[in-house]
Amino acid sequence: MSTIIMNGKKTAQDIKDELKAEVALLKEKSIEPTLAVVLVGENQASQVYVKNKKRACEYIGIRSLSYELDCTTSEEELLKLIHDLNSRSDVHGILVQLPLPKQINEGNILLAIDPSKDVDGFHPINVGNLSVGREGFVSCTPAGIIELMKRYSIPMEGKKCVVIGRSNIVGKPISMLLLRENATVTICHSRTKDLALECQGADILIAAIGKANFVSKDFVKKGAVIVDVGINRLENGKLCGDVAYDECFDLASAITPVPGGVGPMTIAMLMKNCVLAATK
Ligand code: GUN
Repeated sequence: MSTIIMNGKKTAQDIKDELKAEVALLKEKSIEPTLAVVLVGENQASQVYVKNKKRACEYIGIRSLSYELDCTTSEEELLKLIHDLNSRSDVHGILVQLPLPKQINEGNILLAIDPSKDVDGFHPINVGNLSVGREGFVSCTPAGIIELMKRYSIPMEGKKCVVIGRSNIVGKPISMLLLRENATVTICHSRTKDLALECQGADILIAAIGKANFVSKDFVKKGAVIVDVGINRLENGKLCGDVAYDECFDLASAITPVPGGVGPMTIAMLMKNCVLAATK
C-alpha cells in the first residue's frame, strides 16, 4: 500500500476559501471580523509567523490590527494594551505571539486576554472548557491536526495514539482532542522510559518535540499514521520536522510533510477561530 501524504497546504487553502465565503456573508450584515496581532520584540521566527497570519487575514477578508512593540516593553504596558483591546467592541480576536521577552510573565498575559477573544485558545478558561468538553476556543495547532486527519478520513476512534511532547500549546491539548475523538492516548515526554518502545505501539504517532529528525524508523509501527508538528531550521537553512521523513515514509500509511503539513493548518484554524469570534 502506498503512503498517503496529508497535504496541509492544500487543505488549509480549502478552509481559507470556505472562510472567505463566510466572511463575505458577515460583511453583508455589517460585521467586519477583526483580529489584533501583538508582537513584542524581534524574534525572527515570530516575525515570520505573524506575517503569515496577517497575510491569511488579508486573503480571507479579516481586518488585522498590528501592534509591534519594542523588546523592552514592560508587562504593565502590554497588559494596558490587552485591556484596551478587550474593551473594544470592534476587535473580535486578540493574538499575542509567543514567546515573550523574559521581563514579561507569559501566564499573566494569557490570563488577561478576554476568553471570548482568545482565538489562540491559551486562556485557562478555554483550556478548562476543552478538558471538560464544553464549547470554547481550541488552540490552533491541535485543532488543525484533528481537522487534517478528518479531511483525510483517518479513523481515530479506538486507535492507540502516542503524543511525544507535553507542551501547553500542542502536547496537552492534542491529547484532550484525541480523547474527545475516542482514541486511547499516551503522552510521552523527555523523562519517558523506552520512548521508542512506547511509540512502536502507536496507530497514530504525533511528534511535537522540537528536535530535528528525532523520530527514526525504530519508533514507527508498520501502517502507522504519522503527524509531524516540528518546524526546525537546519544549519543549511532548510526546514525539517521532528520526524526523519524519508526513512519513516514507507512504514507509514499516512504522513504529514514539513513544510506544508501541520504549519498551514495552524493558521487556517486561527482564521476559523477569528470568524467564530466575530460570529458570536
Ligand atoms: N508561538 C508558537 N506557536 C504559537 C501559536 O500558535 N500562537 C501564538 N500566539 N504564539 C505561538
